[in-house]
Amino acid sequence: MCGIVGYIGDKQAEDLLLTGLKRLEYRGYDSAGLAVVGNGGLRVEKKEGKVDDLRKALSNGSMEGTLGVGHTRWATHGAPNDVNAHPHVSSDGAFAVVHNGIIENHGVIKKKLKEKGYQFDSETDTEVLVHLIEEVKREANLSLPEAVQQALTQVVGAYGIAVVSREDPDLLIAARKGSPLILGVGDGEYFIGSDAAPLVEHTRKVVYLSDGEIVTVRRSGYQVRTIDDEPLDKEVHELEWSLGEIEKGGYDHFMLKEIMEQPDALEDAMRGRVRPAEGEIVLGGLHQVWDQLRDADRIIIAACGTSWHSGLVGEYLIETFSRIPVEVEYASEFRYRDPIIREDDVVLVLSQSGETADTLAAVRQAQSRGALCLGICNVVGSTIARETDAGVYLHAGPEIGVASTKAFTAQVAVLSMIALKLSKGRTLSDAERKEHIQALAEVPDKVRAVLRQSDDALESMAQVYRYASNFLYLGRGYNFPVALEGALKLKEISYIHAEGYPAAEMKHGPIALIDRFMPVVFLAMKDSTYDKVLSNIEEVAARDGSVIAITDEENGELDELCEYVLRIPQTKEFLSPLLTVIPLQLLSYHIAVMRGCHVDQPRNLAKSVTVE
Ligand code: AGP
Repeated sequence: MCGIVGYIGDKQAEDLLLTGLKRLEYRGYDSAGLAVVGNGGLRVEKKEGKVDDLRKALSNGSMEGTLGVGHTRWATHGAPNDVNAHPHVSSDGAFAVVHNGIIENHGVIKKKLKEKGYQFDSETDTEVLVHLIEEVKREANLSLPEAVQQALTQVVGAYGIAVVSREDPDLLIAARKGSPLILGVGDGEYFIGSDAAPLVEHTRKVVYLSDGEIVTVRRSGYQVRTIDDEPLDKEVHELEWSLGEIEKGGYDHFMLKEIMEQPDALEDAMRGRVRPAEGEIVLGGLHQVWDQLRDADRIIIAACGTSWHSGLVGEYLIETFSRIPVEVEYASEFRYRDPIIREDDVVLVLSQSGETADTLAAVRQAQSRGALCLGICNVVGSTIARETDAGVYLHAGPEIGVASTKAFTAQVAVLSMIALKLSKGRTLSDAERKEHIQALAEVPDKVRAVLRQSDDALESMAQVYRYASNFLYLGRGYNFPVALEGALKLKEISYIHAEGYPAAEMKHGPIALIDRFMPVVFLAMKDSTYDKVLSNIEEVAARDGSVIAITDEENGELDELCEYVLRIPQTKEFLSPLLTVIPLQLLSYHIAVMRGCHVDQPRNLAKSVTVE
């Protein structure tokens, strides 16, 4: 996720801004840059890579000036490189902008600006905003604050921006809509930050900007207005958090932060793509190859770990809604077993990091045999994202915890979008597809409800089960892959042995394991598989097994059969993995914490397995 810092005061800005960017490193980024106003000029330095690389680049001549902005970029539009790094500068070099967020209508605006003669150096949506501000300023002869305000009224999407100009060395402008920004209030100096991490060492007095607000800051003071120019009198808050707490958003671990931010990550994954009113799904990244995917004879999904689990959900989704045969492969097996890949096959790889060696090898294997290879990745500009022929980014923000959580749900959401788009003219009428797309759009709020309703219950359950030596996770249909994912979550962060199985497989062996020391987690939503799952629960309960069931909030059954029944909101069957996985993530998290495990960096594991 991008990070923004800003400073206006009486100290040299460069070192303050660099230190501020270091405080934002935890957010994940791929490039960094500064713009400093001083000696009548505006100087910009920006580079792909880390903040330390930027600092080294500046060591041969510091940037004089006591006003400036800085940025760490998590690429959303355009690969990570020096040109796409922020700040972006107006054509006349007068002012610089840093931006966090996604401008959905950047294409339309860019086209109009090009017709007016503007040149674009980068692939970013941010540069479009810079030239839009410039054009609005020129056309209506506005001041910079007025031009920023006017330009932002034409922007669709999410933004947090900061702006400085060589023409006014006593002016720092910041505005937000959807991407947090905080104003730090010092003594004759002011700070801007995407969160409090870069501010807390300078001041604990902060003003939280809300969506649709813009602040103009001078050394003598600041004024907050709405984007419609209404002056606001904002409360000054006192920061309580330590730096460590701030980096985790106030949560004890990155994993818990990432579990809790899944509703926002899902909204970001769907932003501009899921269009319920039109009954359409728009996936720009697949536009060039859509016909080939739509007409594929077979789709081969290859991935590892959690991404392999979301791939299994994808198999059910794509076969249900498109009737295209789908095979799901462990990338590590696919790459070595001399697979049969026919000309009209399409290979689809899933990888949060975009760097997993086995999955990258599967891409190269597929392409060496002439197959179209698509990638669903979270890290923009990652190797897999660059080497696949086309793809879809998750836009889930950086996932720092080793145990994948929001990437799983974002992957399933993207696979749902692909499946629903493939359903056109095949399995769903326009009305049915519109209804399914609406149900998908409603998932983030249902995830919010699950998080709100179940965390305390799961923490209590974790107290009971934290000493268990083995767990079984069982599900059918769409929730069989969720059973596998729940088992993986538990074993990788709590070190308890856990296995996921299709519930019906119980009778082919695992039922021999059942006794009162074996917790068995059932995914028992009232869907087309429920009656069969209920029989499996009865089989386990009859053998004194300890059953935990995840079911619909309307389902009053199961209490007599189960130790615990956790009820969650209902949704369409094909979307249930997006809800049923949440309690399993939280149960694993709480058990791991109670067992004193290192939740964010479990033993023996790496966030991205870049070795074979
Ligand atoms: C999941 O919690 C693990 N961190 C691991 O299985 C992971 O999903 C796997 O290594 C694949 O990583 P990728 O999605 O970055 O390719």
